[in-house]
Amino acid sequence: MRKAKIAVIGSSSMDLVVTSKKRPGAGETVLGESFKTVPGGKGANQAVAAARLGAEVYMIGCVGDDHYGEAILNNFKKNGVKTDYVEPVTGVESGTAHIILAEGDNSIVVVKGANDHITPSYIAKAAELIDRCDLVMIQQEIPEETVEYVAELCEDKQVPLLLNPAPAREISQKVIEGATYITPNEHEADVLFNGQPLSESLRTYPEKVFITEGAAGVRYFNGKEEVLVPSFKVKAVDTTGAGDTFNAAFGTAIAEGKDLTESITFGNRAASLSVTSFGAQGGMPTREEVERKLSE
Ligand code: RIB
Repeated sequence: MRKAKIAVIGSSSMDLVVTSKKRPGAGETVLGESFKTVPGGKGANQAVAAARLGAEVYMIGCVGDDHYGEAILNNFKKNGVKTDYVEPVTGVESGTAHIILAEGDNSIVVVKGANDHITPSYIAKAAELIDRCDLVMIQQEIPEETVEYVAELCEDKQVPLLLNPAPAREISQKVIEGATYITPNEHEADVLFNGQPLSESLRTYPEKVFITEGAAGVRYFNGKEEVLVPSFKVKAVDTTGAGDTFNAAFGTAIAEGKDLTESITFGNRAASLSVTSFGAQGGMPTREEVERKLSE
């Protein structure tokens, strides 16, 4: 099988993760249990996940000129992600995500840092690479005008674009039209479509909008009816990065020419494996692991 060639445009961060029995309320201090620093950022997570699943992945992004930046670059290399288009920004700190894992879920504050320097003119330098890709993947931890620019560029070059609209923000109709696939969770879909009932949004965009419903699965409209492709049951340890793993696996399968149901199932299987270990990238499976589980 031919390797899918994918460009991921997005954030690369360091995740600073605290585990605690209790999530502190406003003005409250609690004692936590552990602290770890692990690679993250939605763009980097999707790039690493797609590389582990066998795609040829080019990351397009920025890191700070600090030790986190170096660690992020090393992590890309360790995972086989190509970094020709990842530049350190002088005098700027790397992106960080401050994560509390408590009471069975995460809370995250993201500080964009160098990710805010991923501007349209920075992306323009990679236009020739983008033109040669089977798929471009993008998320929203980078400037809004960059997402708009990429949507236009991909439409112009006829390169399929997978937009993971996370974290939630309103986006222009131009971006919705320019994207080939859009994968919000329920909350992000609410923001994206101004509170319109989800089944109406799905009908408006058949085979374009795929709502990720966590443990339930992924819902879309196939032109005739709403379809829910169910998820796989596992014991979750840490759900951070599950959405990124789904997007990477779904995108890889699509770029390889698999049909929608097969691609979503592949995504669901990979995402369900990713939540069984600590850290956004800690549980991201290899191609072999996903295929073995799918054949069980
Ligand atoms: O999607 C998970 C990611 O979101 C984490 O790795 C963290 O960096 C946040 O940006």
